[in-house]
Amino acid sequence: MSNPSILILAGDGIGPEVMGEVKKIITWYGDKRDLAFDVSEDLVGGCAYDKYGTPLHDDTMAKAQDVDAVLLGAVGGPQYDNLDFSVKPERGLLRLRKEMDLFSNLRPAQCFDALADFSSLKKDVVAGLDIMIVRELTSGIYFGEPRGIIEEGNERVGINTQRYTESEIARVARSAFELARKRGNKVCSMEKANVMESGILWRQVVTEVHDAEYPDVELSHMYADAGAMQLCRWPKQFDVIVTDNLFGDLLSDAAAMLTGSLGMLPSASLGAPMANGRPKALYEPVHGSAPDIAGQGKANPIACILSFAMALRYSFDQGAEADRLEQAVEKVLADGVRTADLLGPEGGVPVSTSEMGDKIIAALDASL
Ligand code: IPM
Ligand code: MG
Repeated sequence: MSNPSILILAGDGIGPEVMGEVKKIITWYGDKRDLAFDVSEDLVGGCAYDKYGTPLHDDTMAKAQDVDAVLLGAVGGPQYDNLDFSVKPERGLLRLRKEMDLFSNLRPAQCFDALADFSSLKKDVVAGLDIMIVRELTSGIYFGEPRGIIEEGNERVGINTQRYTESEIARVARSAFELARKRGNKVCSMEKANVMESGILWRQVVTEVHDAEYPDVELSHMYADAGAMQLCRWPKQFDVIVTDNLFGDLLSDAAAMLTGSLGMLPSASLGAPMANGRPKALYEPVHGSAPDIAGQGKANPIACILSFAMALRYSFDQGAEADRLEQAVEKVLADGVRTADLLGPEGGVPVSTSEMGDKIIAALDASL
C-alpha cells in the first residue's frame, strides 16, 4: 500500500517558517514511528498570485482534491491589500474550503496549564478550559447569493446574503453531535433566531437531528451575542459549540483569546468521506500570516504543529500518535520554553521558531 499523501501549502508571511517545523515533525514520524507520508508542496495565497496571477492555481486545486490531507500555513500580507477582491490571497483559501466542501471546521480552544496566566481573563476562569467550536464553513453569508456592490438610485449598495439549506445545517449538526459523544457529550448551538429566519431554521433543524439521532447528547441553544458574553464570563460551561460560518468566525477568535495566545490554536476543516474512507480534510493554524514578524524566526510554530496532530487524529486514525505530539508540546511549555509571543510581562529569553520545533522533537524522542 502506498503511503498516505499530504499536500503542504505553506502560503505567505510566517506560513513557510511555521510549516518548516511541521516538516521536521513529519520526517520524525517517518523515521521513528514508521509512519511515512508522501509529501508534496505547492503555493496558495499571495505567493501564488505573484507567480500565477491567481491565489490558487487550478492545478493546485486539483492536487488538493486528490490527497489524503492538505496542510496550510497562512495567507495574506499588506502588499496584497489593494488587489482586486477576486484575486485576494484569502480567495484561495475560500476556494479550497468551498470546492473541497469542507463544511465542518473544528476549532478547539484549550488552555495549557503552563499558559493559564496569559489569558486576559482570571486564571480560575480559563485553567483547564477545553472547548470545541464547530463552525459551518462552506455556506452562509460567506458564499450566499446575491452578493456584490450595486448602484441603486444615486448611491451604492453592498449586498451579502445569509442562506442555509436544511441539509447544510443537518450535516454540520451531526458532526458536532458525533464529536460531543467523544468528549463531554454536550452541544450548545448558537444563532440569532430572534432576528434571522436562517437562525429559526438553524435551531429547528439542529433540534430535529438531535431528537431523531442523538437524544443521548445534551443540547442547548443560545443567541450568538449571548454566547459571546457567556464565553467571556464562564467558558467552562461549554463542551462543543456549533454555529454558522460568520458567527463561528467571530466566536472562535474570542475563544482563542481566552487561551492566551492565538499562536497556539490549530484547526481542522473536514468534509465528506472519500473513497478510502478518510474525510476530505484541510488543517491550518487559526492565526494569520503575521507579516510584521515574517522571516525573522520569531513565529510560534505550535498552532501549525498542533494542526498536524489533528491530521494524525482525524485523517490518519493515529489518535495515540496525536496524543504523543500534543503531550510533547505540553511538556515543552511546562519546561518554560517560550517563543516571543509567549513571554509574559516578566520577560525572559525567547526561543526561535526552529528552536521551538527542535525542543518539541526532543520531547518526542524522550517519549519513546
Ligand atoms: C478564518 C479567517 C478567514 C475567515 C479569512 C482569512 C478568510 O478569518 O479562517 O477565521 O474569515 O474565515
Ligand atoms: Mg477568522
